[in-house]
Amino acid sequence: MAALVELSTERLVLRGWRDADLEPFAWQNADPRVREFFHPPVLPREESDALAARIRAGFDEHGFGLWAVEVPGVAPFIGFVGLAVPRFEAHFTPCVEVGWYVAFDHWGRGYALEAARAAVRFGFDELHLDEIVAMTVPGNQRSRRVMERLGMQHDLAGDFDHPRVPDGPLKRHVLYRLSPA
Ligand SMILES: CC(C)(COP(=O)(O)OP(=O)(O)OC[C@H]1O[C@@H](n2cnc3c(N)ncnc32)[C@H](O)[C@@H]1OP(=O)(O)O)[C@@H](O)C(=O)NCCC(=O)NCCS
Repeated sequence: MAALVELSTERLVLRGWRDADLEPFAWQNADPRVREFFHPPVLPREESDALAARIRAGFDEHGFGLWAVEVPGVAPFIGFVGLAVPRFEAHFTPCVEVGWYVAFDHWGRGYALEAARAAVRFGFDELHLDEIVAMTVPGNQRSRRVMERLGMQHDLAGDFDHPRVPDGPLKRHVLYRLSPA
């Protein structure tokens, strides 16, 4: 089992998951505003817990993952931000992606960007990755803004149909790429 790495930034701690995170995570997964660009549009408690368990298992496998994000003095858990190894196959896999998923009440404060900057720095400086990607549906402008503020480039030739998403309006994804500075 790999040792769990934790990261901290000016306002945030990116830490390992705790059982106490499961309840706020379930609220987040029951919020259609958070899941506007995900399928299905909400997750019941069991599926939320199962998702958290898969995320926790990823840390055991890799030593990094989608960290639970805490804002000390504000909230013990606002969602997750971090690095993940996609389990599906596409023209750009195998790869490491950066992703974020923040509770609605904590949007608009720059937390996702601040946490993502720390995750990306860890990926390049400590994991020595030669590239980090990100993906979302074209209409997820908030997420695309985080990608662009991170300095990621939209790979115009890289857009793809996500193999894990059923046919419909959420299937097409844009692909962003970032190389070490
Ligand atoms: C995508 C998501 C993380 C973006 O959250 P966000 O809060 O908009 O993103 P940031 O953390 O970068 O914050 C940026 C906003 O905070 C504002 N902000 C306030 N204080 C700030 C600060 N100190 N530093 C930076 N930005 C700050 C910015 O002006 C910006 O607001 P604006 O979009 O109105 O211009 C969030 O919408 C989310 O979790 N969505 C649901 C899950 C999802 O879709 N995930 C992506 C799947 S690919």
